[in-house]
Amino acid sequence: MKRSFIREILEHTDSDTISFAGGLPDPGLFPVEELRRAGERALGEAGVYQYATSSGLAPLREWIARWYSDGGFPTEADEILITSGSQQALDIISRYHTGRAITIESPSYLGAQNLFDLNNISTDPIPLHPEGIDLPGFAASIRQTRLAYLIPDFQNPTGSRYRPEHRAAIARDCEQHDALLIEDAPYSELYFDAPIPSISRRVPTRSYRLGTLSKILAPGLRIGWIRADRTLLTPLIAYKEATDLHTSPLTQSIAWHYLRDTDTLRQHIRQIRSRYHAKMTHFADTLTRQLPAFDFTRPEGGMFLYGTLPDTDTRALLRRCLPRGVVFVPGAEFGGSDDAIRFNYTHSSMTEIEEGIGRIREAMEAV
Ligand SMILES: Cc1ncc(COP(=O)(O)O)c(C=O)c1O
Repeated sequence: MKRSFIREILEHTDSDTISFAGGLPDPGLFPVEELRRAGERALGEAGVYQYATSSGLAPLREWIARWYSDGGFPTEADEILITSGSQQALDIISRYHTGRAITIESPSYLGAQNLFDLNNISTDPIPLHPEGIDLPGFAASIRQTRLAYLIPDFQNPTGSRYRPEHRAAIARDCEQHDALLIEDAPYSELYFDAPIPSISRRVPTRSYRLGTLSKILAPGLRIGWIRADRTLLTPLIAYKEATDLHTSPLTQSIAWHYLRDTDTLRQHIRQIRSRYHAKMTHFADTLTRQLPAFDFTRPEGGMFLYGTLPDTDTRALLRRCLPRGVVFVPGAEFGGSDDAIRFNYTHSSMTEIEEGIGRIREAMEAV
């Protein structure tokens, strides 16, 4: 298995390094005070110290089901399985589908590709365009694999966002070929304009819709979930139980006490969107000014900005950037081209964005 290159880079950086590498939220946006209050309530409950049910805390599952239903995707609490982050959701689903083939986007999320490798799932990568996966390629592939893994909202690493027509075509293909869809959606709430309905809504009985609190609240809580039809979800509960019995009742309870006032979360997400939009704009403007050769499309949400530096080996460029104290992830790490780069624009401050991009320019000029 390929070790996460991103983690390796993070290990080799010091506190002066400006990192555009990880998928880290802006730490200034964690609602620490509200979470502390939620934590105090949770710590006062005897139940958080006991073993709990594998499918998750009932009120939290009910809250998530209501969140989907209010958003136009009717969901019951027993269609939700709580996991330790959406990474564990991917792990459980991969184990269940061991030995199969799967259609994926190219490039795609490294953490999922590693799990597919571990579980002997052979991947069929189909090119990803800014408006979504290549449709003829997808149709030909899904007919063989009958299983797909897609990230339609502000994809990791490319930031691509599937258009509504694209989503409709994929849903039709899944129906036609009796296929299952794993729709990974950690960034779906981080749009700058308006949401686009999920593919899962069109195929509720053939999809695993993955959600997480990592990008809208705090990744340290390790709370994610799978939304699926009961027939699909029930066999996964045994896998969840075999893996770790259940997700920590303490963090589930903290999350629930925070979430129960849904308006607080809505307000918080609005704040994240507006801050990330401002950061993306600053990042994109600085790139245009300082690295005019970098060819990219401005993302409409999410946490990543992806593009190419024609005729540049970006792994070699990264090696020159490390001693200058700035890092990013070369696109080739995700299965992208050798001249591609993924930048995370959410973690650094406005000043660091300016400074970091300046250091990359110096590294380029030093050739
Ligand atoms: C596409 C995608 N899926 C899943 C994850 C895992 O997120 P978590 O386990 O924190 O929910 C990430 C994290 O960056 C991601 O980008």
